[in-house]
Amino acid sequence: MKQNPGSEPNSKISGSVLVADDQADIREALRLLLKVEGFAIETAGSPAAVLEALQHRQHDVLLIDLNYARDTTSGAEGLDLLTRILGFDGNLAVVVMTAWGSVELAVEAMRRGARDFVQKPWDNARLMTILRTQVELSQALRRAQMLEAENKLLRAQGRPTLIAQAASMQPVLELIARVGPSDANVLVTGEHGTGKEVVAQTLHAMSNRSLRPMVTVNTGGLPEGTFESELFGHVKGAFTDARTDRIGRFELAHGGTLFLDEIANVPLKQQAKLLRVLETGEMERVGSSQTRRVDVRVLSATNANLHEECAQGRFRQDLLFRLNTIEIHIPPLRERREDIPLLAVHFLKQYTTRYRKQITGFDAGAMQKLMDHSWPGNVRELDHAIERAVLMARDETIKAADLGVVQTRDGGVRIEDMSLEEVECLLIKKTLARHAGNISHAADALGLSRSSLYRRIEKYGL
Ligand SMILES: Nc1ncnc2c1ncn2[C@@H]1O[C@H](COP(=O)(O)OP(=O)(O)OP(=O)(O)O)[C@@H](O)[C@H]1O
Ligand SMILES: [Mg+2]
Repeated sequence: MKQNPGSEPNSKISGSVLVADDQADIREALRLLLKVEGFAIETAGSPAAVLEALQHRQHDVLLIDLNYARDTTSGAEGLDLLTRILGFDGNLAVVVMTAWGSVELAVEAMRRGARDFVQKPWDNARLMTILRTQVELSQALRRAQMLEAENKLLRAQGRPTLIAQAASMQPVLELIARVGPSDANVLVTGEHGTGKEVVAQTLHAMSNRSLRPMVTVNTGGLPEGTFESELFGHVKGAFTDARTDRIGRFELAHGGTLFLDEIANVPLKQQAKLLRVLETGEMERVGSSQTRRVDVRVLSATNANLHEECAQGRFRQDLLFRLNTIEIHIPPLRERREDIPLLAVHFLKQYTTRYRKQITGFDAGAMQKLMDHSWPGNVRELDHAIERAVLMARDETIKAADLGVVQTRDGGVRIEDMSLEEVECLLIKKTLARHAGNISHAADALGLSRSSLYRRIEKYGL
């Protein structure tokens, strides 16, 4: 075997090359040469075959002849092919082969974006140097692309602090300690704002994937049309808006952790697609038939009861089994009141730093108010309440008045703090919901006539 003088025998870069030439003997000669040099190689005999091959596999370098119509040396077909390849993916490394003496054609190809050229008959050593350089460049470029995308996601994610001293949190902490370091898929359940994402981040931070990213997807929040493209990525041209290739979340999480948030909201059709990747570890980008393998640990979270969703036929049982190898349920804040002061102080520190305020703590009245509240919005509600209090406070301690009326979405305001009209409105809303919007039944239950219920519905804009 002839060794390229410039390269060390054991520093060979293994790369994959797609060779395109209409002459079978040339394809064969290149196949033998490249195989000996340790490249993976695929061949194509026509421009159409090249474009077809691109759909199925990713190559580091494309080595293409410029002349396809026999007895011509214009290179028009080859230049056209080059343009189409780069239109498919502008980052692809293309090296062109031209007939001896057609330097102008080579120059034109370089102008159109070819990375390099060789003249036929080629010099083996020069060809190998060119291919190795291009393989190295391609792989570096792809790594850089990957890193950039990862970093963008990482910057958006904070480091987790998990405060949990209450007795009711001990089983949660034990489970986290036991399954955190493993590769097990974990489903985290609990009401809104209980800290499901914090638990997922903690599990990831404890695992040996922690140096790789945890990539989060709000699966429930994805519009129907973008679900697949977000998760699996797409290739340029897969649909009207797909102007460039895009790496999906599964690929971004490769080697790391994928956090599927709000998992119960994934429609059945898309559940099937998720199931397949989880079962096989294989997926394709939208618009491509090239199968890619991904190695991800999947954590997921929901505030719904997935077992109930399965029983109702809204969630696939087989998908649930893939997700909940281990299930961690986080109790609501009202069942772990011991944690309220600790969390309150934690958020206080965070916000006094952020808003540069000199506040040292809570006075007794404020703390009492925090302990008395039912926190239907859980830790997130507490977080927001402290943020507001820090902004409102005029002294060095937070007073009950700074906490204001602790409001929540779902009518979670304390009845004592509401006006009569607010209570009436809330009652009507709840009754309507209980009777699935049936006016007659709701009116009966409220002891109102249908028409007076209608008047109130109109008044409150329900
Ligand atoms: N145990 C905890 N220690 C410290 N901070 C916490 C804890 N639990 C929750 N938080 C904080 O409370 C807020 C809400 O937590 P998180 O987003 O994890 O809740 P969630 O259960 O995912 O909520 P949702 O169901 O609305 O998505 C975050 O700011 C988080 O940092
Ligand atoms: Mg969440």
